[in-house]
Amino acid sequence: MKSENVMSIEQEQVMELVKRREKARLGGGEARIESQHKKGKLTARERIALLLDEGSFEECDMFVEHRCANFGMEKETYSGDGVVTGCGTIDGRLVYVFSQDFTVFGGSLSETMALKICKMLDQAMKMGVPVIGINDSGGARIQEGVNALAGYTEIFQRNILASGVIPQISAIFGPCAGGAVYSPALTDFTIMKKDTSYMFLTGPKVVKTVTGEDVTQEQLGGASVHASKSGVAHFVAGTEEEGLALIRKLVSYLPQNNLEEAPLAVCTDPIDRQEESLNEIIPDSPSRPYDVCDVIRLIVDNGEYLEVQSSFAPNIITAFARFNGISAGVVANQPKYLAGVLDINASRKAARFVRFCDAFNIPLVTLVDVPGFLPGTAQEYGGVILHGAKLLYAYGEATVPKITVTLRKSYGGAYCVMSSKHLRGDLNYAWPSAEIAVMGAQGAIGVLYGKEIAAANEPQKVVEARTQEYVSKFANPYNAARYGYIDDVILPTNTRFRIIRALLQLATKKLSNPAKKHDNLPL
Ligand code: HXC
Repeated sequence: MKSENVMSIEQEQVMELVKRREKARLGGGEARIESQHKKGKLTARERIALLLDEGSFEECDMFVEHRCANFGMEKETYSGDGVVTGCGTIDGRLVYVFSQDFTVFGGSLSETMALKICKMLDQAMKMGVPVIGINDSGGARIQEGVNALAGYTEIFQRNILASGVIPQISAIFGPCAGGAVYSPALTDFTIMKKDTSYMFLTGPKVVKTVTGEDVTQEQLGGASVHASKSGVAHFVAGTEEEGLALIRKLVSYLPQNNLEEAPLAVCTDPIDRQEESLNEIIPDSPSRPYDVCDVIRLIVDNGEYLEVQSSFAPNIITAFARFNGISAGVVANQPKYLAGVLDINASRKAARFVRFCDAFNIPLVTLVDVPGFLPGTAQEYGGVILHGAKLLYAYGEATVPKITVTLRKSYGGAYCVMSSKHLRGDLNYAWPSAEIAVMGAQGAIGVLYGKEIAAANEPQKVVEARTQEYVSKFANPYNAARYGYIDDVILPTNTRFRIIRALLQLATKKLSNPAKKHDNLPL
């Protein structure tokens, strides 16, 4: 039995805890919270509440304070410092989270904030679960000097070791400047919020001093710039709420770690659904475009998919989707944009996506309609050889199930690259409309019969005859199928069913690459 005296002390202790928690939850105080809201931004805690399943957040290190005594900093401390950390669930699955609190010294990174973030990364690695970081920060805390830089680098080191082990996702909901950008860059996916977020190594003032260029924050590193020009952002959200919902959706396609498989969803869409419209989708003229997203929508479960980097290199589509509830990565050349050609950006974009899927046991479904690599000095000077090799490398090293469907063109080096049989493609299908050759008829006739055409009285007739001959030999899938490079020619209407059956066949696939310290991907 406890004495009354002890009971009253305990109540005091409870009150103290409640008070301390209340204070910590206010971060930098009511005025700064109001200012955050006025900027159209949510607070660190409001963001976490929207991200995680209701009531699942378990906070950690709420009472950590900074230890800096420079510039009178010892007089200004905040419980929890500038980041809220902890764990919770998304659709019942555990994740770790850190959310920078702009109301505390502008979310600037202190030594102790870095320790809090590192603790979450370490926990996520131990538990084998995703980690989500919400960035809204003025960068390194200036008063802490090298300790802030050391803190950042400790985070980077953990991001690097966690890469390919647990999914890492970054949301940028405010400033993210200087070296701070490298943590998101090291993670798997970056989501930026329109208008209120920006990422750059050096801000507009430094740019003006060094290069003389006049540029705004938005022009230099806003969401649309990183989504369409640099490829740094994988998703753009109109609002923070949308961004957080998008992260929840993204996580639903992913396994918790590299030793697990993505969760199997309940499939309500018939697996043998026939799509007559797929028979009509390829235009009569080989140079006429169509939208490959129509094909994707018609073959995946319920027409639902999540496109990654939709505004960057739109000549290739990368998306997560489900087939019979199985999570898969879809890569598809997009004839609607630049005829679906492979160029530097398309190669980089798809290579990164393929490598992510391979690292996390997500099967790959590749839809091919590619006229080749984009020619020209801009591409060659930009190193298209190396960038194209990245995609080649990514497909070649991938050991997850690889299913390829050639819809129309598959020419030259691009044939080799796009998950061909020769890169250990498991099941390579083609529609009857497929054309698999070294190049298209026009180019080939010019090379093979240039002299004959030049000497002919009626050159047009020679071109027509030779083209006819070439088309009948190569503008079909049967020549490649004759060699076993195409496993089967399938009816477009039946594509969904054939992909699902292939995924089921490949479910027990086991394949590993030679042991090595690490590869030497053509960077
Ligand atoms: C300490 C900082 C801070 C910082 C902001 N604050 N950034 N405190 N270190 N880096 C404080 C401000 O003093 C202010 O405190 C509060 O946060 C809010 O900042 P404001 O300037 O009032 O807000 P706003 O007008 O919205 O401007 C936000 C901002 C600006 C654009 C981020 O604060 C800014 O330019 N900060 C510096 C950015 C920067 O250059 N960081 C270093 C990058 S280099 P009070 O008390 O007034 O509320 C870097 C190296 C990392 O990070 C290297 C890693 C390897």
